[in-house]
Amino acid sequence: MTHRWLVTGGLGFIGSAFVRNVLRERPAIAVTVLDAMTYAGNPANVEEVAGDPRYRFVRGDIADAAAVEEAIGDGVDAIVNFAAETHVDRSILDPEAFIRTDVMGTHVLLEAVRRRGIPRFLQVSTDEVYGHVAEGASRERDPIRPRSPYAASKAGGDLQVLAYHTTYGTPVLITRGSNTYGPYQYPEKLIPLFVTNLIDGEQVPVYGDGLQVRDWLHVDDHARGIAHVLEHGVPGEVYNLGGGNSRTNLEITRRLLELTGRSYETSVRHVADREGHDRRYALDASKARALGWTPAVPFETGLAETAAWYRSREAWWRPIKSGDFRSYYQRQYAHR
Ligand code: DAU
Repeated sequence: MTHRWLVTGGLGFIGSAFVRNVLRERPAIAVTVLDAMTYAGNPANVEEVAGDPRYRFVRGDIADAAAVEEAIGDGVDAIVNFAAETHVDRSILDPEAFIRTDVMGTHVLLEAVRRRGIPRFLQVSTDEVYGHVAEGASRERDPIRPRSPYAASKAGGDLQVLAYHTTYGTPVLITRGSNTYGPYQYPEKLIPLFVTNLIDGEQVPVYGDGLQVRDWLHVDDHARGIAHVLEHGVPGEVYNLGGGNSRTNLEITRRLLELTGRSYETSVRHVADREGHDRRYALDASKARALGWTPAVPFETGLAETAAWYRSREAWWRPIKSGDFRSYYQRQYAHR
């Protein structure tokens, strides 16, 4: 019997990796993607599976109840919510869209789950909800202390999800992933922005001293972790998905310089720091590991393959970088 999963935000970076992996590895699962096709939702991300008869696409916004209803159609066995505004810098420039999608959108989905009696709802969240972690690693029961408009909007989503479980017994799960990298990542984020700038011989803007720490997770490991938690997680629980690859931004930058054959002196520009910049994130992922998930991609290999992917897939990112992205880049970096 085929099960159908509704994947919201399935044209985005992590959502599309999830869709590709599920259709490739789970023959008994069909997928409906609901995606608003904002700037980061790109049909090219699912090109290789779009012809699969198990794939269905609905264009729409998760904050629009009618679009959610249309996507659910006769019913689905699970909803996995990837749809979100995700970029911290954009949330600092313009927070409103984050509230609409990450807070209101999550609310609309939860109401649909409740009304339609959908058996599973998984909220894709982030380690950013824990805020800056001076030492040690965040565990799922730690207090959440979001510090950017983006992180606060995701925390607002998480709190609603948990409250629905307590109040209505809604069968929810939350995953909190660490910084994710790999193919098809929109080039506003650190790794794809730096790789593509370096390929073009442009400078890369390192915020502040570059000694901020992030924990890196390959997108395929992240996608598999979400599918694993969906299938094996305990309703009402949160699962951290951390890569276990803590690096400073400068370490990442130096590696990318090596991979693209550029030098620090000519290519790196230290610029004004991000406002309210979280210095360090770190996740304790032992709960997800005890559930049977293990990240498989070694960071060095994953990073080199990612750089090679951007080199060989200029046809994917050049149209993005020459479009609306240009005005965002100006707005974000010109004054720094
Ligand atoms: O930790 C998970 C989060 O990772 C996700 O929830 C977010 O959706 C995702 O955007 C990412 O957030 P970050 O703010 O950590 O990612 P970003 O790629 O924007 O930045 C990574 C680090 O690199 C951060 O310390 C800021 C720094 N940075 C970033 C950019 C874009 C720079 O130094 N220069 C830059 O131009």
